[in-house]
Amino acid sequence: MTTPQAGIFAVGTRTHHHLEFDVDVSVPLDSIAAAIESIVEIGSSNVVVGFGSDLWGRLSTAKPAGLADFTEVSGLDGHVAPSTQHDLWIWVHGTGVDDVLDVATFCTAALSGFASLAVETRCFVYHDSRDLTGFIDGTENPPPPEATEVACIPAGQVGAGGSHVIAQRWVHDLAAFNELEVADQELVIGRRKLDSVAIPEDVRPADAHISRAELLDDEGNERPIYRRSVPYGDVTERGLYFLGFSAERDRFDGMLAQMFGTSEDGLRDHLIDFSTPTTGSYYFAPSMEDIAAISSGR
Ligand code: HEM
Repeated sequence: MTTPQAGIFAVGTRTHHHLEFDVDVSVPLDSIAAAIESIVEIGSSNVVVGFGSDLWGRLSTAKPAGLADFTEVSGLDGHVAPSTQHDLWIWVHGTGVDDVLDVATFCTAALSGFASLAVETRCFVYHDSRDLTGFIDGTENPPPPEATEVACIPAGQVGAGGSHVIAQRWVHDLAAFNELEVADQELVIGRRKLDSVAIPEDVRPADAHISRAELLDDEGNERPIYRRSVPYGDVTERGLYFLGFSAERDRFDGMLAQMFGTSEDGLRDHLIDFSTPTTGSYYFAPSMEDIAAISSGR
């Protein structure tokens, strides 16, 4: 029996803070393990910890199949999903900006001495879980308990109860998107703006986002992921911190290939004309038992 990190599935929190670090692995691994232990023991906000492939391989023998660094996706028409792989990702989310900031500060201090902050993104839930394009994000997300099955490596496999994670910071070109009529915006996403109802397949463009993001296996079965993306931004730069969890890493690869036009059908996602990823990393968010094992030196 393994226990996923609870914060992955905790909903209803409106303040989110994402931290990505580069870690100096020349320090004793015990110091890193002790810092991680102090971070996962905090109780006041939801804290989720993920490790890059190299760091996790040094800390644990429970390295799941497929765990690897994010590799750049060089897509059609000059669209690129860059790799900016880092070693450690911490996601703090809670109800208030004050608590979340306190916990993010504590985590950063716990890692000082061997980890340098590479990406910091302060995020928020926008109205009724809308992306800053105005569309509801998460409609097709699997509900609990299906979400756990989608997001976590099954029992009996190395890394069971842990999740593969994709983290990407996308920057929106809202000026261009908002120039479109709402009916045309809906064709970009594939859903109606107000109520998120899907546009019927017979009239939905093949390059609509929900068509490109739906990944099927050879038998036509869906290969879903569990998404916890949240907007970030101010009056000058706005976008989405795209965050996905999966039992298998290659579901992310397949979706990105379909979005960027490197899959067999040669189509790409119209959404990438209006938003561009500027960061991209894969992490592993281990089960509580696998995290406890690193701190106890196993
Ligand atoms: C700027 C970046 C993105 C934005 C604004 C965005 C927004 C949305 C919206 C509005 C929906 C429809 C509602 C819903 O079901 O959640 C959606 C669906 C979805 N998105 Fe994205 N998304 C982005 C990037 C991505 C990426 C990078 C992936 C995968 C790697 C992805 C995977 C999905 C999936 C799997 C669905 C559900 C499709 C279905 O209906 O079966 N999205 N997204």
